Amino acid sequence: MKLNRRTFLRYAAGAGIAAGLGGPRALLGDVRPRAAGPPPAGNPLRMPTVHTGGTISAAKAQIAVWPGSPVELWTYDGVYPSPTFRVQSGDDVELTFTNNLTEPSNIHWHGLIVPAEMDGHPRDAVAPGGTFRYAFTVNQRAGAYWYHPHPHMRTAAQVYGGMAGFFIVEDEEERALGLPSGEYEIPLLLQDRRVETDRSFTYAPTDADMATGYLGDTVIVNGTPDAVLDVARDVYRFRVLNGSNARILDLALSDSSAFHVIGTDGGLLDKPYDVQHSMMAPAERLDILIDFSRYQIGGTVTLTSRNFEGGSGRQQGAEMTILRFNIVRDGAPTPIPTTLVPLERWDPAQAVRTREFVLRTDHSTGMQHMINNRTFSMERVDETVRRGDLEIWTFANPTQEAHPMHVHGTQFQVLDFNENPEVEPKDLGWKDTVNVPAFTTVRVLTRFSPYTGLYMAHCHNLEHEDGGMMTNVEIVSDSAVEQDPGAAPDRMDLR
Ligand code: C2O
Ligand code: CU
Ligand code: CU
Repeated sequence: MKLNRRTFLRYAAGAGIAAGLGGPRALLGDVRPRAAGPPPAGNPLRMPTVHTGGTISAAKAQIAVWPGSPVELWTYDGVYPSPTFRVQSGDDVELTFTNNLTEPSNIHWHGLIVPAEMDGHPRDAVAPGGTFRYAFTVNQRAGAYWYHPHPHMRTAAQVYGGMAGFFIVEDEEERALGLPSGEYEIPLLLQDRRVETDRSFTYAPTDADMATGYLGDTVIVNGTPDAVLDVARDVYRFRVLNGSNARILDLALSDSSAFHVIGTDGGLLDKPYDVQHSMMAPAERLDILIDFSRYQIGGTVTLTSRNFEGGSGRQQGAEMTILRFNIVRDGAPTPIPTTLVPLERWDPAQAVRTREFVLRTDHSTGMQHMINNRTFSMERVDETVRRGDLEIWTFANPTQEAHPMHVHGTQFQVLDFNENPEVEPKDLGWKDTVNVPAFTTVRVLTRFSPYTGLYMAHCHNLEHEDGGMMTNVEIVSDSAVEQDPGAAPDRMDLR
């Protein structure tokens, strides 16, 4: 997609009006930057396609990320970004996956709680040319989940190549809130890519990249470089997913004005939380409302990642431009709800055990990433957990880099960071990924239900994951909670 003629004309017209109104004052030096020169370059934000039908395939495809110069990317269904699934809580999903790549691949439904055989564990990777039928019931609350490949030691390469999409679940409780919808509800898949000198998404990590994670120089939004979006003076809902391999973002608006966090990984919060910025590690989601009614028509504001003190990656923490909003028309802003959904807090006093996960990197190679001094082994079960047990999991990070820790098969609750229970809005509610900053210990409450079988936990810095910072977690049934294996799972006790 490019800055087409129509967009250009609209832009030019907007600039003309601004120049006209501001004309005399412009002479006095009070001129908005946009009226002063040509409109900044940009590409209209792409929207992911919506997945329909009962099949999905993995295949390379030619994609014109930059207008006019297609490059070969790794895709689901030949598009980038990958198609968005949109389902209702309670829906059955049945999908035949075909792997048309020349290496194993599969689909992991990140954040969804599905039977272990459907979870996309790397041991269930599909051989080139093979197929697999995913079938599961979506039994969880409304939220922005996502999907991506999970083959052994190739997750990073395939995701970087372009394979990642939203899996949006809706439910009645959410609908009743009347949140912005339709063209006012926009998914934003944020992915940094290393494209300054080569725009083909080449993935060639060095040892240093394997140590820090593969960091890009540009944030691509829904497959759009230099993305711009025309908006009304209205409230928009953005479902933001950090789909980067390793890049941690600190979302903020360029004028530092506040936005409202209404949901995290596993769905809505109890109420909106106003923030001026929010960190987002790889795999985390934020559901946010931005009210553009405070801006004038003809104005712009940009979603950015603020500069922050990062890990040892040379560019981690660098300031990045994400998406420019052009305010182009009036709106009819709906009031922002004061409450959202009830959230039940699990009580740590009820936890039946504590497990510790110590995260380390072997600096002699920089490529060995470990949990409890072991790199991942496909057949070794590291943790055995009883279904239904409430546990405290401690992620201890003595390294100088952040590790966004993700657990399959559950949505957990964050207890504290270095014993401080004051967590930021981004870590409230239901989480499947929590960023564990350098030299920090994070405790979370977990409970796995209703399925048994082999799941996993790992760092979602994908180079760390592929480099071994991953562990097998087997959920076993407790005779006290034994269910009829043929029966449909109960709606999960998640709230
Ligand atoms: Cu999104 Cu096992 O990962
Ligand atoms: Cu996952
Ligand atoms: Cu890590």
